[in-house]
Amino acid sequence: MTANPTILQELPADLDRDRLPKHVAVIMDGNGRWAKKQGLPRIIGHRRGVDTLKDILRCCKDWGIQALTAYAFSTENWGRPLEEVDFLMTLFERVLRQELREMMAEDVKIRFVGNLDALPRSLQTEIERSMEQTYHNQGIHFTVATNYGGRQEIVQACRSIAAKVQQGLLQPDEIDEALFQHHLYTAGNCDPDLLIRTSGEMRISNFLLWQVAYAELYVTNTLWPDFDRREFHCALSAYQQRDRRFGKV
Ligand code: FPP
Repeated sequence: MTANPTILQELPADLDRDRLPKHVAVIMDGNGRWAKKQGLPRIIGHRRGVDTLKDILRCCKDWGIQALTAYAFSTENWGRPLEEVDFLMTLFERVLRQELREMMAEDVKIRFVGNLDALPRSLQTEIERSMEQTYHNQGIHFTVATNYGGRQEIVQACRSIAAKVQQGLLQPDEIDEALFQHHLYTAGNCDPDLLIRTSGEMRISNFLLWQVAYAELYVTNTLWPDFDRREFHCALSAYQQRDRRFGKV
C-alpha cells in the first residue's frame, strides 16, 4: 500500500493533542526490500520512499507536530553500489528543485545536517537555495540528515570546541552540555521526542547519537514505502502510552 494523503487528515480523536511529540525523527529503512518484494529495482523503492516522506511531513503539519528529521543518507551509505549512490544524489537534487515551491506554499522550513561539503556541487547549490528560501517559514521544521554520521558530528563538535580553547576563546570548564549541543550540526533544534525506525531493525545506525538520549524508540516491521498515516498513528499512540521519566522515578 502506498501513502494516501486523503486518509486521516485530522488528528485521530484518540490522540491527545497536548501530549504529541514536538519533534519526530525517522530512520526510513526498507526501501530496497520493498522494491525487491515487488520484483522492482531498488531505486524504485527510494522513489516511493520520497512519496512516503512527503506524506509523513504533511501529516506532521496537519496533526500539529512541530519538527520532523529524516535520515536520508548516512556517512556509511557511500559504500553502496556507485549506481545507487548516484541515483540517490540525483533524486535528492530533483526532489529539492521540484518541491521548493510546495514547501514555500506549505510553510516548511528545510534544513540539511551532515557533512554537506562532500556532496556533489549541484546538490549543494539546491540545498543552499532551499535552506535560504525557506529560512523564515514556520509551519514545520524539516531537517534532512544527508552524509550524516552521529560519531562524525560529535568529533567535529569536539574539534571546533578544542580550536576555541586553543585560541583562548573558551576555558575547558566552560564546556557543558548546552555548549556542546551548540556545536552540533543540529544546533538550535530541539531533541527528538520520538525516533521511528521502519523495517524491523533494532538499531540506531549512527543517527543523532547525542540527540536521542531520551527519545522514545518505536520500531515497526513495515517497510518505509508502506509507512502511512495509519502506521504513524500507531507510533503516536504507542508514544502516548509511554511513561517518560528522563531518569527520574
Ligand atoms: C534506506 O533504505 C533508505 C535510504 C538509504 C534512502 C532514503 C532516502 C529517501 C527516502 C529520499 C529522501 C529525499 C529527500 C530529498 C529528503 P534501504 O535502501 O537501506 O533499504 P533496505 O534496507 O531494504 O536495503
